[in-house]
Amino acid sequence: MERELALEVVRVTEMAALASSQWLGRGKKNEADGAATEAMRAMFDTIAMRGTVVIGEGELDEAPMLYIGEKVGNGREDGPEVDVAVDPLEGTTIVAKGHSNAMSVLAIGDRGTLLHAPDMYMMKVAVGKRAAGRIHLTDPIDKMIEIVAEANNKRIQDVTVIIQERDRHDHLIEAVREKGARVKLFGDGDVGAAIAACMPSSGIDLFIGIGGAPEGVISAAAIKCLGGDMQAQLKPQNEAERERCRRMGLEDPEQILTLDDLVRGDDAIFAATGVSDGELLQGVKYLGDDVVETHSLVMRSKTKTVRFITALHNLEHKPNINWK
Ligand code: FBP
Repeated sequence: MERELALEVVRVTEMAALASSQWLGRGKKNEADGAATEAMRAMFDTIAMRGTVVIGEGELDEAPMLYIGEKVGNGREDGPEVDVAVDPLEGTTIVAKGHSNAMSVLAIGDRGTLLHAPDMYMMKVAVGKRAAGRIHLTDPIDKMIEIVAEANNKRIQDVTVIIQERDRHDHLIEAVREKGARVKLFGDGDVGAAIAACMPSSGIDLFIGIGGAPEGVISAAAIKCLGGDMQAQLKPQNEAERERCRRMGLEDPEQILTLDDLVRGDDAIFAATGVSDGELLQGVKYLGDDVVETHSLVMRSKTKTVRFITALHNLEHKPNINWK
């Protein structure tokens, strides 16, 4: 992939974030998601690439746009052929309630490199660069805490584990507390949480828990760019879900997936734009006089360049957004 693509695709997440930010706190998660999806879809057409959505808003019959298998990009023959994974609005409930941590995110990889994860639950663990290669999903959490403490040169009581606040994680939260480490709980948006575990400046050492599988693949692309590590395991809830895993080529649906199984090769691009203020990025800010500020992150695994981009947009000149 050409490196310019990284700078191009950040315009896609910017546009999706701008569109969904209009719905902040209005109690309408579907409208917020729909606005992000529509803006993202329109913006993709301006990008020189031949993309196929492998993780999107659903199957063809479930989603009107950005459905799995849909072609995106301007389609010109000289554009790279790529897999595209999108979550136009990561944190639909967050936006509906006006809470923190909503983002628009996407990942791109060479064709055939992103796992076609079905929309089901996935167990995930992620750590930063210093603990990369040392964490195993099947290890007890006590051991994981000891490993990240040593790798990050911290005392156990200074280690912070980020976990999504869900009943299914009560045993994990209890175990971290018993070990004497710190717990940071979040409501929604586990892509940002997984990435935070790989950024030393966040102070977070370990991300663990069960969340969406599509979000897992998008997180893996970001983690690859940051030199961190991740392991995952799909959690099919019934025979139909197990069958879906087999259809996507996983003979053992519950096999442990490494970072390379989630995102193959070493050329992935990740882009995110904050919708509401969060762990990683500030949200969309309406500054008055039709000027709106966005904060984005764009990274590429091949070069490990991490760019934070602040942009000022003039609303009068955003024809792709259906302003409310
Ligand atoms: P949505 O944006 O689809 O609402 O997802 C938010 C999210 O918190 C994800 O980040 C996470 O992977 C998943 O939901 C967890 O699922 P659940 O809400 O069922 O626990």
